[in-house]
Amino acid sequence: MGTTRSERCIALMKRTISRRTGLKLMTAGTLLGFSTRNAVHAAKDQPTAKTDDWAKTHDRVFLGGEYWANPMEDWRVSEGGAECLHLGGGRSVHSLTHQVTQNGAFTMSVLLTRLEIGKSDGGAGFRIGLRSELNEHRSNCFVQKGLNAGWQGDQLLLGPKTAPLKDGSVLKQVRLTLKGAAEGNKCVLTLTANAADSGAELGTVSHEFGAEEILGNVSIANNFAAGAVAGAKKNKGKAGAAGAGRYRFQNWTLEGNAFTVTPGNRFGPLLWSMYSLSDSRTEDGFVMKLSALTGPMGAKDSQVVELQVQQGGAWKSLGTAKLDPDAWVATFRIPKWDAKQAAPYKLVYREKHTDGSETPHEWTGTITADPEGRPLRMAALTCQNDYGFPYAPVAENLLKLDPDLVFFSGDQIYENHGGFGIIREPAEPAILNYLRKFYQHGWAFREVMRNAPTLCLPDDHDVFQGNIWGEGGRKMDVGDTGASSKGGYIEPARMVNAVHKTNVAHHPDAYDSKPVLQDISVYYGDMVYGGVGFAIIADRQWKSGPGHVATGGARADHVADPNFDTAKLDKAGLVLLGERQEEFLKKWAQDWRGHTLKAVLSQTVFANVATHHGGPDGYLKADLDSGSWPQTPRNRAVEIMRPSMALHINGDQHLTTLTQYGVEQQRDSNWSFCTPAISAGYPRWWRPDEMKMPHTNRPKHGHANTGEYLDGFGNKAYVYAVGNPEIGQAANRYDKAHEKGSGFGFITFDTEKKTYFIESFRFLIDATDGKPTNQFPGWPMTLQQKENRGENVIG
Ligand SMILES: [Fe+2]
Repeated sequence: MGTTRSERCIALMKRTISRRTGLKLMTAGTLLGFSTRNAVHAAKDQPTAKTDDWAKTHDRVFLGGEYWANPMEDWRVSEGGAECLHLGGGRSVHSLTHQVTQNGAFTMSVLLTRLEIGKSDGGAGFRIGLRSELNEHRSNCFVQKGLNAGWQGDQLLLGPKTAPLKDGSVLKQVRLTLKGAAEGNKCVLTLTANAADSGAELGTVSHEFGAEEILGNVSIANNFAAGAVAGAKKNKGKAGAAGAGRYRFQNWTLEGNAFTVTPGNRFGPLLWSMYSLSDSRTEDGFVMKLSALTGPMGAKDSQVVELQVQQGGAWKSLGTAKLDPDAWVATFRIPKWDAKQAAPYKLVYREKHTDGSETPHEWTGTITADPEGRPLRMAALTCQNDYGFPYAPVAENLLKLDPDLVFFSGDQIYENHGGFGIIREPAEPAILNYLRKFYQHGWAFREVMRNAPTLCLPDDHDVFQGNIWGEGGRKMDVGDTGASSKGGYIEPARMVNAVHKTNVAHHPDAYDSKPVLQDISVYYGDMVYGGVGFAIIADRQWKSGPGHVATGGARADHVADPNFDTAKLDKAGLVLLGERQEEFLKKWAQDWRGHTLKAVLSQTVFANVATHHGGPDGYLKADLDSGSWPQTPRNRAVEIMRPSMALHINGDQHLTTLTQYGVEQQRDSNWSFCTPAISAGYPRWWRPDEMKMPHTNRPKHGHANTGEYLDGFGNKAYVYAVGNPEIGQAANRYDKAHEKGSGFGFITFDTEKKTYFIESFRFLIDATDGKPTNQFPGWPMTLQQKENRGENVIG
């Protein structure tokens, strides 16, 4: 059945060669512009013409795989067109398949229907020349600055020029046509308006632009002014009251040799998939679970996805799964999976059209074989702040390293992802607002996720909270949209559950799936793969909020006073993991069926390994958001983990650290690897030397800020390595992410030697060229299994 691992490796090597050539161009921090995969460079015999399918698309949120809508929740397919629901500024729909890459000829046209005008008409039509500093189609989608060409009030506008449009203030419909023609190193654009019914010309305007001004993404735009973008923050999900106008767009055509056409840039309706494979050690054997994600479809669209696997050269259907109408995830659970062989899979979504026709869409990948009898190689990632989107240096390094397992420990999104603010309630628009942010995660990392099992934990930002103290699912008393130092969940439970589904529906079955308060779902449990046992923990779902103690400062979760006695914060009855997870971990620590090495996967580190937060002078003695607090249940959690000899792998901090926990004594317990952020936003540092924090037994390597410490909560922590950031100043997003200490972790589990080989890679590097500067100081290091119960070797 299927391709073998070596066949996959050969295919990957081939891909790697072309990528290496690409990486040379990346070293200065600028990545290759457009992907050449599947690109059709416009030539005489290569048609570039494209018209949207909205005329035969059922009413729905998702505009189609050829488009990216800004923001998704403000657009609908309605009456055969793409309709903007919001009166705010800067709404747009980008073409993903057509980018202007050269000064040549092009034509775009669209039928515009003016649906509503607020205080004044913000204008609508085309916005082109949209390019980020990378000029890469995904990052270009979030650029507001471009060249406007459209209809506003009774005028046509084209860049700096305007011209009267006959009856423009009373007309309801106009067909706009924008033509570009190269003249030397200039491009002459001509915008013409025609009556929708008679075709009579109603106005025209022409202007000459520099050739570079037209390069990049093209879009249809509703309300050219970007000023009202921030206004969406107060939006509770209704069509906005702030603004200008709203329009419906139909028959958007694109054509011409100025375009590079890249069908492979499509994103949806099958967006991506994530799967897990685990030895259940029950009669179900290996269980393969897979989630297919689609965009939000309509009531008359197909609600199912089909899974096929290749067996003996033929595709065999394993049936269909129903899409969850909130999360738009269809999850398959296949017991008795033959994990000895890799199996190519294919997901099929049959899109139904209003004319009765159907378009099958496919997403393919490989369910790998269980990596038995050889080391298991796992990538560990966290925290994607979207200034660094699409994080191509990390995504490309992952493809080169070809991990057996990919772990995202949280903050797959931040609330500000993609602009246009946050919708907190009601649940339905809040979910759409969340989904399009989460789609950026899949858009960035779907290539590695299609061929490797993926575990993906939701953390605080994923549920729109700066911090989370879940208190067993409690509803937060009063909405706190800021630092979130109150216990409980801000968001409606229905939204939280949609977040959980998108992240973990494909995980191995939960240990005990009984929901918590408000019927919020839980996901803790284990996975056994490649001879390694993984405990998957939600280290904040039950955690007590800081409201139960007094920190004496401006923020309930921060201790800024270096003389504050944090022992007072260890009040009886406070919770870290909660009874249910403690009971699970106790059992798991003793359960060695099917594996010989263990790891605990959770969101954050059980030590307060940061002295400065937010800025280089932002000293904090203690942060209650760290897993170091509350101290008693923290120590209990470590004691429960100790017999498992598990390595604790986590993230969240935006500061990579390698730390050994101590409970009774320094260095008597498990090690923790906190991985770098994929793209670090809020910065943290660990600078105990400068703060004159006492330490003993600095490791042999002698790096600053390492050794045995009592952290801000008085917990014992042996900090072996830390990757402090610089201040992020670069204009280029990838250079900036690199400065800020971004990157990713990689762990090789050797089940024969009983070792963990731990690597912490920086952002803008080639992880395969072996340069010592690729990793943060102190990495890589090899840890022996027994060191996780204090039988220390390393020093
Ligand atoms: Fe984060």
